[in-house]
Amino acid sequence: MRLFSLSLLLGAAALAAGQALIEEPDEDAVRENTYFNGKKVPPMTILTPLTWDDEMAKGKYTMVKGYSPYCPHCFDYAPTFQTLYEYYYTSTPAGAANANKEFTDFYGFRFGMINCVVYQDFCSTLGIKSWPTTLLLKGDKVVETLKGNKDINLLAETIEKILDAEKPGSRPQTIQLPLPGLNHSPDHPEILPAKPKPTGTETVKKTVAAEAKTATSVPATTKVLAKTSETSTKAAEGEKPTSTLNPAGYLVPVPSPSAVGKPAKSTVTPNINGTSIPLTSMDFQNRVTLTQDPWFIKFYAPWCHHCQAMAPNWVQLAKEMKGRLNIGEVNCEAEPRLCKDARLRGYPTILFFRGGERVEYEGLRGLGDFVHYTEKAIDLGAGVQDVNATTFKALEDKEDVLFLYFYDVATTSEDFMAIERLPLSLVGRAKIVKTQDPALFERFKITTWPRLLVCREGRPTYYNPLTPREMRDTRLLLNWMKSVWLPIIPELTASNAREIMDGKLVVLGILNRQDEDGFLSAKREMKSAANEWMDKQIQLFQLERQELRNAKSLRIEEAEDKGDQRALRSAKNIRINMDRADRKEVTFAWVDGAFWQRWIRTTYGIDIKDGERVIVNDEDNRRYWDQTSTGNAIVPSRTSILETINKITASPPKIKPKLTISSFEKIFFDIRVTFTEHPYLSMGCILGIAFGCASWFRGRMLRRTRGGHFRLGEDMGKGGPPLLGAPSGNGAKTD
Ligand SMILES: *[C@@H]1O[C@H](CO)[C@@H](O)[C@H](O)[C@H]1NC(C)=O
Ligand SMILES: *[C@@H]1O[C@H](CO)[C@@H](O)[C@H](O)[C@H]1NC(C)=O
Repeated sequence: MRLFSLSLLLGAAALAAGQALIEEPDEDAVRENTYFNGKKVPPMTILTPLTWDDEMAKGKYTMVKGYSPYCPHCFDYAPTFQTLYEYYYTSTPAGAANANKEFTDFYGFRFGMINCVVYQDFCSTLGIKSWPTTLLLKGDKVVETLKGNKDINLLAETIEKILDAEKPGSRPQTIQLPLPGLNHSPDHPEILPAKPKPTGTETVKKTVAAEAKTATSVPATTKVLAKTSETSTKAAEGEKPTSTLNPAGYLVPVPSPSAVGKPAKSTVTPNINGTSIPLTSMDFQNRVTLTQDPWFIKFYAPWCHHCQAMAPNWVQLAKEMKGRLNIGEVNCEAEPRLCKDARLRGYPTILFFRGGERVEYEGLRGLGDFVHYTEKAIDLGAGVQDVNATTFKALEDKEDVLFLYFYDVATTSEDFMAIERLPLSLVGRAKIVKTQDPALFERFKITTWPRLLVCREGRPTYYNPLTPREMRDTRLLLNWMKSVWLPIIPELTASNAREIMDGKLVVLGILNRQDEDGFLSAKREMKSAANEWMDKQIQLFQLERQELRNAKSLRIEEAEDKGDQRALRSAKNIRINMDRADRKEVTFAWVDGAFWQRWIRTTYGIDIKDGERVIVNDEDNRRYWDQTSTGNAIVPSRTSILETINKITASPPKIKPKLTISSFEKIFFDIRVTFTEHPYLSMGCILGIAFGCASWFRGRMLRRTRGGHFRLGEDMGKGGPPLLGAPSGNGAKTD
């Protein structure tokens, strides 16, 4: 997590800090007790700079979690830290003499958490630079800093050391740690919370809801916790987790893969009436975030023009999805709290929810676009599908981009869990399936498991993790997937334009879909050019690496011959550095020349009526090439394309580029349009125009990519710090 990167802009740091203070979390939310091994556990202490000294003075040691209610790693970490707390809080020291001693008083060891988004400055004085960070304090001195999402074993190890030193001999030989999220230790029989009224499930859910509130009531926060409730319910149903002995010698239970592989399927028919259901903060959690039912929800404001414009499509979508997918809507005028929690970037914002996790819909707002997306989203309920060679082949005919996960009997539940979390982020982009079919192992030459690859046009590209952990880190996996999830020749559309164009040389075919034969043959030619280019890059890479290696061995030999020890050492220390950052990546795409006619004519001076063409676009430098070295137009043919790229990628380019320029008035036009629709207006027009210009210069495609949104940068709403505060409230509305 970057804490301050965005704040550097325009001295907005001060604003952000100011906003953060206004955004006090919902401390008055009812926080209920939880139960562990049947014993009552009070809610974990919430620390603030004001209470800090008093709290630290209450015990000798305090373990503190510094977190952000918006960061994905923090969501992942929440159940671990909570379970760790519950486990220790309810434990008793070893030895008959100590049997009646309470853990907290006996050791003077306490737990607490602090919201580092609200108390940024305070957290940084504690040395917390990223979230989550776990501190161990002795008195008010930090004695240990554990960064990131730490394993429960590692945390326990740290605690055990302290406890043993504090009261020697009071610790058991082995401790049986619970799996994060469970409400009992492995050696303890499952006890449903000893409370009279509700059934087990309800209690768990309630606890979860209460905890979600503790973490400042962000819907996304309920994610892991909601899952947790699922796990505990499952456990309650009698699926005995098996145990493994981890390196530290602690017993850690492992859920069976079947428990994690299949999300619970709802039996309720979704969207019975074919209508979009208005949701209030009262029922949002019960109907959406605490269920496994998928929901497609728009957050809107009645006064926003873009919201009004898309309203008919939304009604139609709800009809189309009758009986298949829940469609909902939240009126942010009526539900400011809910919208604030959702951290919207503007109106309308459309989010897809499932099992407490969410992903933002970033496509166009036509009915067809919605339906296309939701059709794919519906599949999610089934989890990652298992395929064999035959079914995979059939899928390849339908999908341009397929991620394939190879597993075997030794693949752990942790690995599966990581994979099961991916599909939501892939909706509308690509499909992921898993396999243990030897025929597919053979086809893709898989000899170690688990492995992940992407298959585009039959061409595999492998994910190469350096450690087993990187195979389970959802964020790393997603980052890699994002780098390869476009087809080899994607169609350039408003929603993917930036992703395709930014930072790359793009061979862009300007094609005419109406001329079917010409279109197919042009795409075929481009594909073969792309494949050839990719092959050449791989070969070049290997060749260069080989040359560097040869040069190194020559130097070593030479030094050995001369007996020069110093030269030998330095030769051996030569690193084969294949840093290719200086070279620009070349990718391929095509664009519908008829649909984008105006844009193409003004940007490149090309009219599709004159035939299909190819240009090579260099977005970062606002330049492009449309001619081969002989001065002819580049056409969609393998040779024309390959010849030209070779010349263009030469340094310096052997063909002169042309510049793309747009008129300056357009900047102001765009700012005006985006700002009347934009809830951040009260921040002041100066800031707004500065931002507008900044983002204009960052990429001309920016505003074209989203109808009516004004984006403040990719990090907003994805766990980044609030730059301008929440979009609703604070009198920030206009119109
Ligand atoms: C569907 O419509 C009926 C009749 O209008 C109504 O009673 C029912 O509550 C609706 N169901 C849902 C899930 O909104
Ligand atoms: C592959 O899976 C399909 C559907 O699950 C099944 O019908 C088929 O028999 C399988 N093929 C092989 C070779 O196992």
